[in-house]
Amino acid sequence: MSRRRPAPPDLHALSDPARRRWVQGGLGGAVASLLAPLGAVAAPAASRIGFKAVPPSTADRVLVPEGYVAEVIYAWGDPVGVPGAMPAWQPDASHSAAEQALQAGMHHDGMAYFPLDAQRGLLAVNHEYTDERLLHADGTADWSAEKVRKSQAAHGVSIVELARGRDGGWRVVRPSRHARRITASTPMRLAGPAAGHPLMRTALDPTGTQVLGSFNNCASGRTPWGTYLTCEENFAQYFRGPERPDAHQRRWGLDGGGQGAGWALHDERFDAGRHPNEFNRFGWVVEIDPFDATSTPVKRTALGRAAHEGAWTVQAADGRAVVYMGEDGAFEHLYKFVTRDAIKRGGAAANRELLDHGTLHVARFGAEGRGEWVELAAGRPGLEAFANQGELLVKTRQAADAAGGTPMDRPEWVAGDPSTGHVYCALTNNAARGRPGAPGADAANPRAPNAMGHILRWREDGGFAGTRFAWEHFVLAGDPANERAESRGNVRGDAFGSPDGLMVDARGLLWIQTDVSGSKIGQGDYARLGHNQMLCADPASGEVRRFLTGPAGCEITGAVMAPDARTLFVNVQHPGEATPSTWPGEPGTRPRSATVAIRRRDGGPVGS
Ligand code: FEO
Ligand code: CA
Ligand code: CA
Repeated sequence: MSRRRPAPPDLHALSDPARRRWVQGGLGGAVASLLAPLGAVAAPAASRIGFKAVPPSTADRVLVPEGYVAEVIYAWGDPVGVPGAMPAWQPDASHSAAEQALQAGMHHDGMAYFPLDAQRGLLAVNHEYTDERLLHADGTADWSAEKVRKSQAAHGVSIVELARGRDGGWRVVRPSRHARRITASTPMRLAGPAAGHPLMRTALDPTGTQVLGSFNNCASGRTPWGTYLTCEENFAQYFRGPERPDAHQRRWGLDGGGQGAGWALHDERFDAGRHPNEFNRFGWVVEIDPFDATSTPVKRTALGRAAHEGAWTVQAADGRAVVYMGEDGAFEHLYKFVTRDAIKRGGAAANRELLDHGTLHVARFGAEGRGEWVELAAGRPGLEAFANQGELLVKTRQAADAAGGTPMDRPEWVAGDPSTGHVYCALTNNAARGRPGAPGADAANPRAPNAMGHILRWREDGGFAGTRFAWEHFVLAGDPANERAESRGNVRGDAFGSPDGLMVDARGLLWIQTDVSGSKIGQGDYARLGHNQMLCADPASGEVRRFLTGPAGCEITGAVMAPDARTLFVNVQHPGEATPSTWPGEPGTRPRSATVAIRRRDGGPVGS
């Protein structure tokens, strides 16, 4: 069972020189000075990581430590479990668009677990994007209306009911009254200050309050009141751009081409030349009540618009909700939303409008390990260009630029540890930092280029709702065997790069998942790191230990621990994308993204 955790040093109780050593700010790009060990002030602690590390691997399978078992429970094409409508997976991908809308989507990403009782729960799973080569029986042959519908149906979210058997293994319950697919066509409501704004009105929806679907759902979050937050990331690529994009469209990457060109061929709302405002209706955080399969998902515009990686909620001491959000784009920003009101007892029903009122901020990381959250409110100094909050929110990137938010190295997942007050953020990498015309190294993003990524952590002054914070580099990712000094990092333990998924478990261990792009796996600075992986870090000692390696070409994502810590759910995304894979099937079969349940054979807590 869980043991009491060794306390990390209190940043505010340290003397100034000690704080500087711990916080490691004011770096000015001098990588050597970053290598002072994280635990310089902390007393060395015994490792609390209990498993034997797995080595880097290039095997086309999921490898976990001795004594653990990893079981595939929900793969692309599996029926979600809607009563009376459970089309079986077709290995030749011959299933129709209508069938796909009742099956697991592709490319599983962020997810969350909602307990029903000790042995059953709901798993909400994002399906980030699609691989059209695998999705259709005829692969990437010409688009048809049916293929567009199938692609849209393979995006979105699954809600599946899970049950644990006597042996500790998990299965999807079919049928289940909770089973649901949300796709790029599901009716949704827009709420908050941008709902109804002229920039949100379209020919199909003159009110600017109703929208069809969500897509490129990357990471996610689970609120304390029991709802799921799914986040729209790289939405721009789905739209065909106008011939001459305006400054707003360009700032949001609307340049046409890509997959968007395919959808727009048969669904004109994705033609931004004809329907420019449809584009503004994506890039939001969407709240879903997983316990009510008839509920309408709601896009919460007060949280801002971004290529949202995810949305992670913690509770401030006064009961308000604090939502951290990274925007995964080179030189994009890190955001924080603080609700106006406290969380009420009574679950989703009692907190229906909680996320519609509050204050959005962008992070500004200063030198000397200090930072501040700058409020993004129309009319504030520097933000006078935005006529009202609705316009500011549609143009959140422009507002963050104007407010002096720090351009970051692609902020991905955020994980808070309520027991210490630390908040961690993965900055996956940024090859463009330091290029001509681009920002160079700064205190928070100290490597130019940043090939390997890093993890920042901070602690708010006065608790999660605070507007100033003390930050430090938790780790600079890398491989000490690398030739290039700036790609060696300072990992104490097993080497890794391109951190993406993060999760703090109940014992305060930080789980890290990697997303090295297919073109870099096994190449250059990543030559010795094998396939994408999952690691466990002990913040008390700084030790990092490799827990899992994935099949060929995949990313590892979606870290969720069951409430009793005896199962770890993980998603394997896009096996075979750049490197051939047949996981999890037999030779000759299509690779499939899937959710994997990992547990100890002796039933003990994962990781201990
Ligand atoms: Fe969808 Fe930033 O990963
Ligand atoms: Ca990600
Ligand atoms: Ca990523």
